[in-house]
Amino acid sequence: MDRVSRDNKEKNRQHYNKLYADYSIRNILIWLKDLDSFLDGACATETSWHALYQDGFKDRLEDKKVMEMGCGDCVNAAMMAGLGAEVYANDIAEASGEIINKLNQAWEFKYPIKFVKGDFLKNNLEAGKFDFVVGKAFLHHLTLPEEKEFLRETARLLKPEGEARFFEPAVNSRILDEIRWMIPVKGRPSKLNRKKFIEWKENDPHPDRSFSSLHFKNVGTAFFKFVKIKPVGTLERFNRLIPRGKHNIRYRRWAFKAEQNIPLLINTYLTRSQLIVYKEPLQ
Ligand SMILES: C[S@@+](CC[C@H](N)C(=O)[O-])C[C@H]1O[C@@H](n2cnc3c(N)ncnc32)[C@H](O)[C@@H]1O
Repeated sequence: MDRVSRDNKEKNRQHYNKLYADYSIRNILIWLKDLDSFLDGACATETSWHALYQDGFKDRLEDKKVMEMGCGDCVNAAMMAGLGAEVYANDIAEASGEIINKLNQAWEFKYPIKFVKGDFLKNNLEAGKFDFVVGKAFLHHLTLPEEKEFLRETARLLKPEGEARFFEPAVNSRILDEIRWMIPVKGRPSKLNRKKFIEWKENDPHPDRSFSSLHFKNVGTAFFKFVKIKPVGTLERFNRLIPRGKHNIRYRRWAFKAEQNIPLLINTYLTRSQLIVYKEPLQ
């Protein structure tokens, strides 16, 4: 592995170990108790859940073998296991493994979640056994050479009829992206504030790389026959202009429905996120 990829992996490990240290699973347990209403709410108002759970994903999970890459706070791993899937969860941060241990102790899943520790590419799992490989806000944390290896391994692990689903940010317009960097958001200064921005960038666990839909299409076609990229969040992204509260939630619910009427080309150009589906592995 090249030096940039190695450094990037270590930066992610340290960043997320800090973020998830002593993570409380209290909320996850509350959500597991009423899984349907948690998922209905999340899918109607939160971009990542809205995207990942499209195509009736929730109802396709029972007794299915699922690998989640970059499981992070493990909320999605817990929900999939709560729906009856046999979940394998991987993260470079050991703290995620501790969350999985706590979850397995506190909740009787149909199949206890298995944590795949450390470097996923050295997982030694048998080929062709998984129904799904999923990642929620994960691939864009990899350098391009790492991403290629992860997708090669995804294709290897999936059954011939299996499916990979990734929710990722999208950048398809340079102009919109430049404007976005100029607007400060919580925890990230404006690019115009050069000194602060450079300081922030040094600690940011995202490598410099493409997030374009075309990139995900091209990299996917190297390993899969079927590639679908769906823009998500084109209108929803403007919820930041509305103060948090019931009007904001109402706007997001409306936005997800309304943006489906935008012609695909325009939607793809303007979107902030995307659902990536890969099927029919080529190896
Ligand atoms: C933005 S977080 C997303 C976490 C979670 N999926 C979610 O939806 O909240 C990205 C996750 O990817 C993990 N990650 C980054 N590089 C990784 C690698 N090379 N192998 C495994 N996990 C990695 C990070 O540790 C982090 O938990």
